[in-house]
Amino acid sequence: MPKTVSGFSKFSKEEKIQWIAKEYLENDQNAVKTLKQYWNSNEKLQSLHDEFIENTISNFYLPFGVAPNFLINGEIYALPMAVEESSVVAAASKAAKFWSQRGGFKAEVINTTKVGQVHFLFKGEPEELRVFFKEIKPTLLLSIKPITANMEKRGGGLLDLQLADKTGELDNYFQLFAKFETCDSMGANFINSCLEKFAEVLKFEAENYSHFQKEHRSIEIIMSILSNFVPECMVKAEISCPVSELGQNGMDGKHFAEKFIQAVKIAEIEPYRAVTHNKGIMNGIDAIVLATGNDFRAVEAGVHAYASKDGKYTSLTHASLENEIFKFWIEIPLALGTIGGLTNIHPLVKLALKMLQDPSARDLMEITAVAGLAQNYGAISSLITTGIQQGHMKMHLMNILNQLEATENEKTEMIEHFKTHPITHSSVVSAIEKLREI
Ligand code: MEV
Repeated sequence: MPKTVSGFSKFSKEEKIQWIAKEYLENDQNAVKTLKQYWNSNEKLQSLHDEFIENTISNFYLPFGVAPNFLINGEIYALPMAVEESSVVAAASKAAKFWSQRGGFKAEVINTTKVGQVHFLFKGEPEELRVFFKEIKPTLLLSIKPITANMEKRGGGLLDLQLADKTGELDNYFQLFAKFETCDSMGANFINSCLEKFAEVLKFEAENYSHFQKEHRSIEIIMSILSNFVPECMVKAEISCPVSELGQNGMDGKHFAEKFIQAVKIAEIEPYRAVTHNKGIMNGIDAIVLATGNDFRAVEAGVHAYASKDGKYTSLTHASLENEIFKFWIEIPLALGTIGGLTNIHPLVKLALKMLQDPSARDLMEITAVAGLAQNYGAISSLITTGIQQGHMKMHLMNILNQLEATENEKTEMIEHFKTHPITHSSVVSAIEKLREI
């Protein structure tokens, strides 16, 4: 049984690895070798990565791919994508090429407001608190000025501050509900700093407020934190074309469009399907979010909360066919940044943003929504025509061959062979076994 450890974070990297190996990996020095194999030989670069988090012992590689030919609002982009799933970049590239010949993607930011809350308990009458809040609001607003000065210069800052009475749902529970504009930064540190200042001032002012009865002067701050639910930080992207220009894999345009719309409608009304449908959208979104150094957990949490905001989980995309025009669109909350965080520290993130022509946060919201829409278009197109496995397994072939330690020659032969044979794990195993017998 491994023992608990004290002071682990103070161990050297070598000591940490040896401790893990001894306690959990049967002292296997090959495992140690594997960990070290992923160290970067450039020590400066390695130490940069070591310092992103605590207790770094190695790097975890993800492929960094590129999906070219994305025509978005009249500009052609090559999208940087960090993702491990074999078919994602291929599907994005295919959809991008297809739509670049049909007017491309149109995208538009709807709004960019972010939210934060100070959650607290007050045991007096709500009306007393309302009066108090009104009186101290100017002090609260003034208190964050040193934090917001720079953001205000860039056109952002606090947009609104309200008192919310939640006592109907939880005894004594109130919030300071704040809205922010954080311009090109994701703004988490900015928002949280403002909120913690509000909390401090709120508590102090209550303690010195003579109109509260003595026992009500002590407001209990429970926590101060931004919300990753951002239904007012929305972006829309769409594609459209005459139905005659659609059609795929032997299916005519009209039939394709009708079947496509039906598939989207199913995701609109059936949560089991909607989750997988949206997962496909997130294949594209997360890959860009990761490559550009944004917080994919925050994006995921916000997106899925939005997908269920009306009480039932539903599709993030919608499709229509009117007057022979097929239209497919997405509306999605995306709180992204292009400055701060990893954006000017991680060399690949800097490069990804440069590839995107140094986008503003709004540009990045548009590009990312497009990636999600393209991915969903690709997935549905395959699902309603050939089925997903054909393309999926074609891309997965290389993973199976690598697993079977195929040589370069064997890979070439297998790729040729499977151009005309169905790919499954067992068919690849038998084909390679046969080849090795010759
Ligand atoms: C696989 O990663 C994503 C899909 O399942 C999405 C979908 O079903 O729409 C193919």
